[in-house]
Amino acid sequence: MHDSHEPASPSQRAASSPCGTEGPASTPPDAEPAPPTHDAERLAPTPQDADVADVAPGRDPVLTRRSIRKYTDEPVSEAHVERLLRAAMAAPSAGDQRPWRFVVVRDRATLTAITEVHPYARMLRQAPLAIVVCADTQLKKWPQFWEQDCAAATENILIEAEILGLGAVWLGVHPLPERVEGIRRLLALPDHIVPFAVVAVGHPVERKPPAERFDPARVHRECW
Ligand SMILES: Cc1cc2nc3c(=O)[nH]c(=O)nc-3n(C[C@H](O)[C@H](O)[C@H](O)COP(=O)(O)O)c2cc1C
Repeated sequence: MHDSHEPASPSQRAASSPCGTEGPASTPPDAEPAPPTHDAERLAPTPQDADVADVAPGRDPVLTRRSIRKYTDEPVSEAHVERLLRAAMAAPSAGDQRPWRFVVVRDRATLTAITEVHPYARMLRQAPLAIVVCADTQLKKWPQFWEQDCAAATENILIEAEILGLGAVWLGVHPLPERVEGIRRLLALPDHIVPFAVVAVGHPVERKPPAERFDPARVHRECW
């Protein structure tokens, strides 16, 4: 399935790509580093943006999304929950295997109990909702890729929350056995279901500026 995406071996690369030849193939060492600027400035439209999108960077939910850990008491509506789950299930997956399952948790006692098995989940004491992203080991056609699939689904939930004006944060579970087992026990997950991540969701109290993390030095072109 994925063979055509496999990187070529070094000898193949030498014969078929500029990487086997001498000379700079990446950012030249004397290239000017981008000057640091204030977040708001860096997310202001640049002349290049006109070429790539109608959406200004400051309105692009992928770029404006931040982890939000403080919420009002207002419940998240079922309509919003469905949008979050639709976004999750729209994620790409290996061979379209869609190994995900989701547990929607609103019960206050359960949300609080998760904080006892997850050391960095304190915000669940206030959050009105958590979506637990799980993998079904019986649905895996390409078992090596289930983590990537579930991560894509998790990220889609975060981006959809941003679009809907909700606040959310990803709480890592897999592959830490104590968190996996703790959540499995709390939610009565069957053996073939592996909890991958918890997403805490609510109506945001805090606001955070977009993070500008673009770093041209992390980018190599054509080869390293
Ligand atoms: C795999 C993963 C696990 C994470 N686990 C936690 C967590 O347990 N608790 C938490 O508060 N945030 C958690 N985060 C959120 C990160 O702390 C956050 O994404 C990071 O600090 C960057 O900030 P931003 O999301 O606001 O851009 C996790 C994020 C990822 C991708």
